[in-house]
Amino acid sequence: MIHLAIFASGKGTNAEAIINYFRNSRDVAVGLVVSSHPDAGVIEVAKKNRIPVAVVTKENLYDSQELLEVLSRHEISFIVLAGFLWYVPAYVLENYPNRIINIHPALLPRHGGKGMYGRKVHEAVLNAKETETGITVHYVNERYDEGEIIFQKKCSVEPDDDATTLEAKVQRLEHEYYPKVIEKILLQEPVRL
Ligand code: GAR
Repeated sequence: MIHLAIFASGKGTNAEAIINYFRNSRDVAVGLVVSSHPDAGVIEVAKKNRIPVAVVTKENLYDSQELLEVLSRHEISFIVLAGFLWYVPAYVLENYPNRIINIHPALLPRHGGKGMYGRKVHEAVLNAKETETGITVHYVNERYDEGEIIFQKKCSVEPDDDATTLEAKVQRLEHEYYPKVIEKILLQEPVRL
């Protein structure tokens, strides 16, 4: 069984889609949710699904390596970021080489980087008058949103779209594809979806 951890800071709709997808899997189990916010919606999602939660503070994430012990206690071998606000510290990257992925709500390399999170990304897409947006799943390295791209899926930006409608369209893609992409990577199958 492969145990994965989901790192998330927000509502947790992606975390919920991932948890639901792997609920009856014989190969993959969501073993831990790590959140940077004690009152994030994702914590409720985890509790509802009886998944252990670790809340990290900036201090214990960046000034200690406590998180490694927590990950190892839960036998975590793969990390999935799903709306995690903070950068992943080097000691975690070193311990999980090519085993940390992220989803970004736009077509990288456009509209990524520090501070580009959630709504802000959709607003940037609208301001740039893009005709297409979508999702990008990529490996995580020490630079925000610059790791190798694994998968992208596009959707159109229509003239009457605003940040709310774009977010809804993009999140539909996220919920449909992110769990499947995770599964393909974990089972070492080509990601062709
Ligand atoms: C998702 O749309 C994800 O792509 C985005 O945060 C949202 C979290 O929503 N991530 C980023 O913007 C990363 N830069 P959720 O809590 O409902 O899953």
